[in-house]
Amino acid sequence: MEIKALRYHETGKPADVLQLDTLELGQPGPGEALVALRAAVLHPSDLGMIGGSYGRLRDLPAVAGREGVGEVLAVGEGVKRLSIGDRVRMPEESVLVDALCANADDFEKAPADLPVEQACMAFINPPTAYRILKDFVDLKPGDWIIQNAANSAVGQCAIGLAKELGLHSINLVRDVAKWEGPLKAMGADVVLADGEDFFKQFGALTGGAKPKLGLNSIGGDSVIKMIRCMAESGVVVTFGGMVGDKVRFPTRNLIFDDVSLRGFWMDRWGRNATAEQRGEMQHEIHELIRKGVFNMTIAGKYALADGKQAFEAAQAGSRDGKVIVTGDFTL
Ligand SMILES: NC(=O)c1ccc[n+]([C@@H]2O[C@H](COP(=O)([O-])OP(=O)(O)OC[C@H]3O[C@@H](n4cnc5c(N)ncnc54)[C@H](OP(=O)(O)O)[C@@H]3O)[C@@H](O)[C@H]2O)c1
Repeated sequence: MEIKALRYHETGKPADVLQLDTLELGQPGPGEALVALRAAVLHPSDLGMIGGSYGRLRDLPAVAGREGVGEVLAVGEGVKRLSIGDRVRMPEESVLVDALCANADDFEKAPADLPVEQACMAFINPPTAYRILKDFVDLKPGDWIIQNAANSAVGQCAIGLAKELGLHSINLVRDVAKWEGPLKAMGADVVLADGEDFFKQFGALTGGAKPKLGLNSIGGDSVIKMIRCMAESGVVVTFGGMVGDKVRFPTRNLIFDDVSLRGFWMDRWGRNATAEQRGEMQHEIHELIRKGVFNMTIAGKYALADGKQAFEAAQAGSRDGKVIVTGDFTL
């Protein structure tokens, strides 16, 4: 059987290096399952991997994509753990393919009752927001957090989870007119432009309270201003660098306010966690999606055959949310 896979044979710009390759797909052997892609999400880290700048790169040629879910279409002899129709996470190294056969035990099960677009993006961004809110500062209801890129998928999850935990959030975005309404509907308390003087404005809006936790995925001037806003002994966690600049630290806040800077990488957390810890967290994340606490916005959906256009849309600034790639392969 012939299938299509969106692959790159060298690193570079997605528009230059991505191609739709035709591959052969066999029948599932003993112990294997045949899984077809149903939905995948594109991330800034996909672009970093294809471009060769991410912290972990793949052997080439590589299938593009990192996160998605598929449907079990067939199982080989002896497979008990999976049944036809089950939803599973696509293996991280084989996401943007029509279908694949792999060991049934290696597929992570995913709940089939969640909307497929939310289910396909449950494994990276929601856990990142979850871990950063839980692991760095002992936050109590009523405490404040601050974040930049608040309209990103991680930012939207942090807003929802903060509200769920009784925390208040200050949310910095580039386009306030576009995002203030949607982010407040998700539970944001304050939405401000990530510009010159946000740190002068928010005190009046928080009754003078300062944030104990900062979430930085931008870098550059944005994080310097964020550090200046922090409460004494506050912690700023850097987990992304959208401006590609160094994170610099204003000395007075280090000395006089004891603000500290930490880093977070979901991959590292996953490698160090036990299977039980990963399973418990993922179960909780799925519950939070089911409750609507995590409900990330979507900018557009593209078929796998239009994967290159999907990557172009994912690279564009001022998106309305995540770009989804769908698959409709059947036997
Ligand atoms: N460390 C980890 O384990 C980990 C895990 C997941 C995600 N991340 C990182 O978290 C960040 C958010 O990821 P995501 O998937 O949630 O993002 P996303 O939904 O794709 O949104 C991207 C965000 O970045 C903003 N942005 C892009 N370029 C920018 C620039 N030059 N200056 C300022 N803002 C810019 C966008 O703002 P506009 O809407 O205004 O364009 C948008 O808010 C990324 O940096 C990603 O790499 C890290």
